[in-house]
Amino acid sequence: MIEKAMEFAREIFSGDASGHDFDHTMRVYRMATRLAKEEGADQEIVQLAALLHDVDDHKLSPETCENHLRAVTFLRGNGADEVKIRIITDIISRISFSANRGAPSTLEGKCVQDADRLDAMGAIGIARTFAYGGSRGRRMHDPDGNDPNATIQHFYDKLLLLKESMNTATARRLAEDRDRFMRSYLEQFYAEWEGIC
Ligand code: ADP
Ligand code: NI
Repeated sequence: MIEKAMEFAREIFSGDASGHDFDHTMRVYRMATRLAKEEGADQEIVQLAALLHDVDDHKLSPETCENHLRAVTFLRGNGADEVKIRIITDIISRISFSANRGAPSTLEGKCVQDADRLDAMGAIGIARTFAYGGSRGRRMHDPDGNDPNATIQHFYDKLLLLKESMNTATARRLAEDRDRFMRSYLEQFYAEWEGIC
């Protein structure tokens, strides 16, 4: 079922350049698997939730996001029982940062949420953020502070807050390194913008 879920996600995300691509899904899958091992979480639940976590994202698929229709249809079609489907869709509905539904109650949900949030941080998180801004035609930075949609603002709205929201010890440690990297990146960014270095 894991391999089929991987193929399913690959088909859905082919061609997406908004930061919700198949590579993101696979990084979340690998990190969630690592966290599941270190935390002793149920590996299959974690892996399926990671692979399916963005297939009904409200930005990509607004017509299916409410009921996780694509994920449910996939799981049902591949023989998952209703209890397992419920556990997985509960995890998916809780991990979004923008939906802000708080920390997942299960260890499995915590691993997937941490993996998804780690992928919004560090060098990869920076790259995804500018890729997203570019896909929306946004300015990178507005030194006069008049453009609330300048991409740099997203660091203050979200990326620099993520460190505090990690659930597992391993993710917290990785998040600290990634947070430090982003802060030093911002210093360098502003210094270059001013022509100081
Ligand atoms: P979630 O799935 O947790 O709700 P989003 O879908 O809002 O998260 O964001 C996924 C990724 O897209 C972010 O980590 C970021 O890299 C990028 N992104 C989202 N919103 C913005 C924005 N306003 N400006 C720049 N990048 C953004
Ligand atoms: Ni995601």
